[in-house]
Amino acid sequence: MSDTILTLDRLCVGYGDRPAAADVSFSLQRGEILCLVGESGCGKSTVLKALMAAPEIRLFSGAITLEGTELSALPPKQRRKLCCEKMGIVFQTPEATFNPIRSYRRQFIETLKSHGKYDPKTFDAKVAEAFAKVELNDWRRVLGECPFALSGGMNQRVALALALLLEQEILLCDEPTSALDATIQLQVAEELKRLRDKNGVTQVIVTHNLALAHFLADHIGVMYAGRLVEFGRACDVLCSPQHPYTKSLRAAIPSLDGTMPDGLPGSPPMTGPAERGCEFCDRCPQTAEACAHAPYAMRQVGDGHFVSCCGGKEAMP
Ligand SMILES: Nc1ncnc2c1ncn2[C@@H]1O[C@H](COP(=O)(O)OP(=O)(O)OP(=O)(O)O)[C@@H](O)[C@H]1O
Ligand SMILES: [Mg+2]
Repeated sequence: MSDTILTLDRLCVGYGDRPAAADVSFSLQRGEILCLVGESGCGKSTVLKALMAAPEIRLFSGAITLEGTELSALPPKQRRKLCCEKMGIVFQTPEATFNPIRSYRRQFIETLKSHGKYDPKTFDAKVAEAFAKVELNDWRRVLGECPFALSGGMNQRVALALALLLEQEILLCDEPTSALDATIQLQVAEELKRLRDKNGVTQVIVTHNLALAHFLADHIGVMYAGRLVEFGRACDVLCSPQHPYTKSLRAAIPSLDGTMPDGLPGSPPMTGPAERGCEFCDRCPQTAEACAHAPYAMRQVGDGHFVSCCGGKEAMP
């Protein structure tokens, strides 16, 4: 039986009068992990911030439905309250989560109180347990520190520990392992997976790391210039990519044999999603004239596998 917890329907969001992500549609089943991947500036964080109803985000059109409630129909304050109750977020930079000059202990207590989850009798034990899960074993010292006094990787793990303590139904993580050593990356990735397997926590994880996406994700959404260009089961998207952009990302993964991949020359446009035409056509090896005018549309290429490419040269007779 389908148990959809979150649906985005042709979501168009941005900053001021400029959309930064458009036509973003997907549904998440309870307990599912979705990874969003794509180069810098493609709109991944914008989608997460829109899900959390961040005040700087403007909703242009489309809908977000959380457990049957259409968020855009709610007044902003109520929308934010509901989002914060149901969803936790680990931001890309800890400064977005924490006050740099206030001790973690005070900030943890305040946050837990605001969620009605502070119990002074169990606080220390629960913090110690959450910190151990993200390999922060000197929990008492770390809890007494202010964020400015810790490294980026430590702050990232503290933010994740707080998210674990809050035990919300949906966890959004923006680059949760980007500042971590490879050994700790594995520990954190395993903890995220455990969180789903044991507690059924639904997750949306933004990452540049395709190996992490392969390890964690049930589904992967590939974003380019503010749009989803490929979406499907993780194994289909990574092992049988259909969009030339996904193929390029896949081919850009370095191996340990001493050779470096060619990579993908150029960079995505910073102008946000275009009205018409494929934004990737300037960099695409199979581009054809039609690509510059083709309207954005996802077409099904397999079971639950969608791609926005019109085929370029390969579709020509
Ligand atoms: N606060 C903001 N105000 C105005 N524009 C913004 C703001 N934050 C992001 N943008 C713009 O929105 C677009 C998408 O940015 P976003 O941060 O969502 O990308 P991203 O995919 O998360 O990139 P990265 O991988 O570097 O984190 C970019 O063009 C960016 O410049
Ligand atoms: Mg980002």
